[in-house]
Amino acid sequence: MFFRIILLVVTWMIFLHDVHVSSCDPNCADKPVFTPSELVVKYGDPASASCSVCQHECHGNLFDIESAVGQKETNGTNISWTVDRLTEWELSLLCYRNNATDYQCCTYLPLTLYKPPDNVFISLINHTGPMHEDHAYTLQCTVQDVAPAEKLIVIFYRGRTVLGEVQSKNKKVKKPVTEIFTFNINPRAEDDGAQYWCQAKLQLGPEGPQPPPVWMSPNTTATVHHKPQLKGSSHPHPITITEGNTLQLNCTAVGNPPPTYTWKYPFANDSLLRNSVLTINSVTSADQGQYTCSVSNKVATITVQFNVVVQGLELPPPTTPSPKTPIKVTTTATSYTKVRNKCTSSKPIHRFILCFMLLFSALV
Ligand SMILES: *[C@@H]1O[C@H](CO)[C@@H](O)[C@H](O)[C@H]1NC(C)=O
Ligand SMILES: *[C@@H]1O[C@H](CO)[C@@H](O)[C@H](O)[C@H]1NC(C)=O
Ligand SMILES: *[C@@H]1O[C@H](CO)[C@@H](O)[C@H](O)[C@H]1NC(C)=O
Ligand SMILES: *[C@@H]1O[C@H](CO)[C@@H](O)[C@H](O)[C@H]1NC(C)=O
Ligand SMILES: *[C@@H]1O[C@H](CO)[C@@H](O)[C@H](O)[C@H]1NC(C)=O
Ligand SMILES: *[C@@H]1O[C@H](CO)[C@@H](O)[C@H](O)[C@H]1NC(C)=O
Ligand SMILES: *[C@@H]1O[C@H](CO)[C@@H](O)[C@H](O)[C@H]1NC(C)=O
Repeated sequence: MFFRIILLVVTWMIFLHDVHVSSCDPNCADKPVFTPSELVVKYGDPASASCSVCQHECHGNLFDIESAVGQKETNGTNISWTVDRLTEWELSLLCYRNNATDYQCCTYLPLTLYKPPDNVFISLINHTGPMHEDHAYTLQCTVQDVAPAEKLIVIFYRGRTVLGEVQSKNKKVKKPVTEIFTFNINPRAEDDGAQYWCQAKLQLGPEGPQPPPVWMSPNTTATVHHKPQLKGSSHPHPITITEGNTLQLNCTAVGNPPPTYTWKYPFANDSLLRNSVLTINSVTSADQGQYTCSVSNKVATITVQFNVVVQGLELPPPTTPSPKTPIKVTTTATSYTKVRNKCTSSKPIHRFILCFMLLFSALV
């Protein structure tokens, strides 16, 4: 019986010795100091730190570094700790000191073990093939096997434009995890052909590598189906042209899928012309009237109307533009060019009159 009690007491004391760290006081005076005060280590790299157990007199006290891995070396009241290859995800490093009444004073060394992701890639959730203008889609950035998730952020990009930043919600896990981040987009016509990508970044703080390490996903090229958009410059209403000159109507548009063109002439309802530009080399009064261009792809059809007025060579003096049908002079430079072209194409006397009048109306 007596023997059994002794055994119990001994076991209890061994147990007490083992659990001493759980009762230590990290807020005591003159606590142990680690150098450096924080460790950031890449998985599998060597690591080291040292602990100065007390700044004042503390000889005769029991002190140590507690760690599941590594070698320790004590010199006076200094303890150094090293490990060749740090691979313990849940490692805690503790430096402690006991006084004569077994009161414990201790310091934990904050330690971050990080691992670069195996892979970073971007995709669209539940969607393949072309996107549609102004519909909602969700980008998804997958970061595979990275640690610690707590320090991970993902940045979504379109070309060089930052679309947004998303932080991990996985706060507790120290071991590598695969994290998926999402971002909603509403692609516009201009985004057709744009490159979407994402970047994973570990924000490891000032003790970590500088600048913070980043990993980029490959680009994914967006195809955005959208309605045709006119590219030609705006044209005047009506388009006034002198007999014998070349009429050119430009209906060029961009769209995805690429649009097709059909034209209606004033003198024929259907034409075989499938070009974006209509050219009539030498106009006559029969060419006067309304031309309609229809630009069409599977998203939408848009129509453009051109009213063409053909002026005879025996010109009446041009009237000043009426407010109802103003001649759009969009840029002075083009007006001058037009004037100059006409100046070289008529007979001398007409040229003079026309030049003068056109210049006058362009300048007003
Ligand atoms: C202990 O530290 C002192 C002073 O820093 C140094 O001179 C001495 O060589 C060290 N001893 C050992 C065994 O490292
Ligand atoms: C203990 O370490 C500190 C800082 O690391 C150093 O200044 C001091 O000299 C060391 N003392 C001994 C006895 O090694
Ligand atoms: C140990 O530290 C505690 C807390 O500071 C104190 O109350 C106690 O008297 C100390 N014991 C000795 C023997 O110094
Ligand atoms: C994707 O589609 C599948 C099957 O239709 C569905 O179960 C899943 O919830 C969808 N995922 C998202 C993120 O919408
Ligand atoms: C993705 O495209 C952008 C330009 O849009 C370029 O700066 C970047 O280097 C590309 N990334 C990759 C991984 O090719
Ligand atoms: C028609 O307009 C487009 C877009 O502005 C331009 O690229 C093209 O050269 C023009 N075509 C002609 C024949 O002027
Ligand atoms: C074009 O069609 C309209 C009605 O669709 C018709 O009144 C007109 O005569 C036609 N013009 C020509 C030149 O065929």
